[in-house]
Amino acid sequence: MAQWQGPAPHPDGVRLQKVLAQLGFGSRRVCEELIADGRVTVNGGVAELGRRVQVETDAVTVDGVPVGVAPGLVYYLLHKPAGVVTTASDPEGRPVVVDLVPDDPRVFNVGRLDTETEGLLIMTNDGELTQRLTHPSFGVPKEYLAAVEGIPSRAALRTLRDGVELEDGRTAPAKASLVADGATVTPGGDDVSLLKLTIHEGRNRQVRRMCAAVGHPVTRLVRTRIGPLADRQLKPGEWRELTTAEVRSLAESSAPGPR
Ligand code: URA
Repeated sequence: MAQWQGPAPHPDGVRLQKVLAQLGFGSRRVCEELIADGRVTVNGGVAELGRRVQVETDAVTVDGVPVGVAPGLVYYLLHKPAGVVTTASDPEGRPVVVDLVPDDPRVFNVGRLDTETEGLLIMTNDGELTQRLTHPSFGVPKEYLAAVEGIPSRAALRTLRDGVELEDGRTAPAKASLVADGATVTPGGDDVSLLKLTIHEGRNRQVRRMCAAVGHPVTRLVRTRIGPLADRQLKPGEWRELTTAEVRSLAESSAPGPR
């Protein structure tokens, strides 16, 4: 017996290659090839050329990665200010991130930032994407700007890159560089430097612990990138919806398999 593969094709839907081309997969010709090569599924079944779809209801994937946005799912990019807690509620009554974005539908933060850490945080009701983005095995890169005490030596930077021994084990290789002209002297006469760090893990207070371990405690920490997502316009406390293309690139960046 044939396997049921979701709703019947819509005779009045939009041609699949047109939908994919509009989503940025390439020209219609390229998208026809994707379909002909069997890389596109609709509602779980491999799509055939000429297939029409209803973008609001049909579930389309390319190479196993969902395209478009399923109805009811929302995705926000928030610039978390310092002092706001990354939980749904705080027993101590401190401000929480869910209060900074629309409350209907209910959304949750993807991963955590320390209360004192600022910067980009994804909020969504898409549990599957959340799981993929936060699962250590997918290792989505996250970039931070850290103001640190002192001026890290080349050796300290190398240690940050190669791996730092922490009490919960050695950190995975990371990117670490001094931001040019990032070194300044405070009015008190102390040196401070600006470090750019990219890590793939998500351990508790990881950047702060890594910097402290090489002798340069963090005085301010801002997350500036999550995988493909960055936004220099977003001010602390502001949020915006992710575009369909951004949701797709996030899903791709956290997809299983070679990257
Ligand atoms: N590393 C930290 O130390 N703190 C954060 O909030 C995120 C990464």
